[in-house]
Amino acid sequence: MDDVRTWQVPGRVNLVGEHLDYNGGPSVPFAIDRFLTVKVRRRDDDAVNVWSTLPDGTRERATFGIGVAPDDGTVSADDWAAYPAGAVWALGTVGPLPGVDLVLESTLPLGSGLSSSAALTVGVVSALADVAGLDVAPLQVARLAQRAENDFVGAPTGLMDQLAVTFGRAGEAVVTDPLSDDAPARVPFDLAAADLALLVIATGVDHSHRSAPAAQGSAPLPGGGYGERRAECERAAAELGLDHLAKAGLDALVRLEDPVLRRRTQHVFTETARVKAALRTLGEADFEQLGTILTASHVSLRDDFEVSCAELDVAVEAAVEGGALGARMTGGGFGGSAIALVPQTKARAVRELVEQRYDALGWKAPEVFAVRPAAGAHRTA
Ligand code: GLA
Repeated sequence: MDDVRTWQVPGRVNLVGEHLDYNGGPSVPFAIDRFLTVKVRRRDDDAVNVWSTLPDGTRERATFGIGVAPDDGTVSADDWAAYPAGAVWALGTVGPLPGVDLVLESTLPLGSGLSSSAALTVGVVSALADVAGLDVAPLQVARLAQRAENDFVGAPTGLMDQLAVTFGRAGEAVVTDPLSDDAPARVPFDLAAADLALLVIATGVDHSHRSAPAAQGSAPLPGGGYGERRAECERAAAELGLDHLAKAGLDALVRLEDPVLRRRTQHVFTETARVKAALRTLGEADFEQLGTILTASHVSLRDDFEVSCAELDVAVEAAVEGGALGARMTGGGFGGSAIALVPQTKARAVRELVEQRYDALGWKAPEVFAVRPAAGAHRTA
């Protein structure tokens, strides 16, 4: 392709602060060194052609018009093409767009909870704004990408993933505040300097935050289990008279009568405190303490927020037993990946123990690999 521009957009791992973004609370994710490459070339007509190659070699192709809109019957919300189409539609609200050819190539395992979807929407918004000559600030790119996912795909996600893949930087984690109109702050997170590795354990259990199929006679659940948790948090906040559940104080736990809403609130309350404590440990490079916080976060997500699953729990338990400083599920849960903070000398032992446990349970081997904090979305050529 001549006059081709290339964008590189990473996936993300969330270190701590899970299920807080849509509750108005902070998270500490970082962009990782596995990414999506987006090549874009302007066309003379109004067509958008997308060719996509996934890490396993699967190829997909989609074509739609630049004026694509949700529910206009051209791209269905269940189709993978809803992500690029949603990104085109969201950016179209900012200014006029040319037709484009887009070639996507990913080293991010799909469905692994590493935000391949945020990489895709942020990548298409960034690359298309670039060829269209639209000046879109990074914070707006993140918000447009979220809009694509919320309003076109129908996945009711928060803003953490899009902020992480937009604002990530090598050797640093991003401190996201979904209610702020400023670009997020960053904190040092230099694993190599501390002889640590951050392992991702991709369970292979696919997670999805799209709508679950309707049970007979009832409406589909928007966003599946994820959407259900979000709705529960909104109910708890409403009962407490709050606009966001992350603002709940300790009194919330006595005021809520419904035990389920109490448990959800307990997670949001304690996780918000864990983020603050984790930021202190990062400032002091106290990784032992950070590890303890990560494992406590997992317990809370497992028992109070109830978004873990057996494969994630086994990965976390085996990692800690094998010598990790701490481990937890990362992302929305119900599958996807766990992370483990591990002294480099123990990385191999941890991986082997996790694999052994999976094998003993008759489960397919998880994919275990180290990641590092890397740069957010940027143009490479
Ligand atoms: C998914 C969503 C995020 C966030 C996490 C849970 O990754 O896309 O917005 O809510 O789950 O922390």
